[in-house]
Amino acid sequence: MALNGFLDIELAVPNPAETFEFWLRRGMTRTTSDVLGTADRPKQITIKEGTYRHLASMHLSCDSESDLAVVAKQLNDLGVASTIAGTTLTCLDPVFGHSVVIDVGSPHALTPSQQRAFNGPGEQTRSNARADAVVNQTPPPPRRVGHVVLATPHFMESIDFYVKGLGFKVSDGMFKGMLTFMRIESDHHNLLIQPGPTSYLNHYAIEVDDIDAVGQFGRAVLAESPDADVVGMGRHNLGSNVFWYLRDPAGNMFEFFSDMDQIVDDEEWDRVHRRDDWDGADGPAGFSVWGPKDPPPAFINPPDAPAIAAAREALGLR
Ligand SMILES: [Fe+2]
Repeated sequence: MALNGFLDIELAVPNPAETFEFWLRRGMTRTTSDVLGTADRPKQITIKEGTYRHLASMHLSCDSESDLAVVAKQLNDLGVASTIAGTTLTCLDPVFGHSVVIDVGSPHALTPSQQRAFNGPGEQTRSNARADAVVNQTPPPPRRVGHVVLATPHFMESIDFYVKGLGFKVSDGMFKGMLTFMRIESDHHNLLIQPGPTSYLNHYAIEVDDIDAVGQFGRAVLAESPDADVVGMGRHNLGSNVFWYLRDPAGNMFEFFSDMDQIVDDEEWDRVHRRDDWDGADGPAGFSVWGPKDPPPAFINPPDAPAIAAAREALGLR
């Protein structure tokens, strides 16, 4: 039994058109008036109107119908209600309040990147030619949504929901598992749950072709919104991904990322690589191996956290 795909997400923001157009300018495609896609995946981000910025839905896939029954049982054991209609299971995240929808199926395969040529010592893969990023100063379009990071004061309950309830696999943990990186695909993480001042979407992550694309996209965002920068570029320790974090027009932090660790042998990863307390005896594993050593305070405590907390309280959410 297994979940096998992180299909797409839905964001709710006060001004959906602004964020929708922001992603069109980055090279995502308009599938419908509120659905953004990529060349391989027509549905990646749905943007709806909401009173405050938040993740409204997470859409996943699993191998077979029997998986849905297993997930429903596991959720029931945690006291979380779910419904199965045909080949779709739906439930509400008990902490954040967004919907989780699981369909039998799998993500559409990604077309491999057209490898851009890099020279190295003793190796000339690009001769008598300028670098591809110099020749094409507009990077190849974004490829997909790869993961989200959710932060909450109720992080242990949330981790249980995703690991014990839905069946996410743990890849690594920091601070005795208070930050838990988990996956349902080969990516090192499709989801990270971490402590936060209220329950909020810390960031969503857009995969791009390579390190040049991360840099080019980041700079393009700054050219139109100089205040959008949060932290980057750098390479993370856990997941190894190259990153640059910025804010979209709604104030959501997002990440351009590339070159994440791929886990294709779960047993080997657990035996050789996985650590559940990277900053404890097994550590240290800080924020980055190069680039900014630490993120700014707003990375884990966004300026609009009190407004999000107030909006959630008004809706009866924790
Ligand atoms: Fe990320």
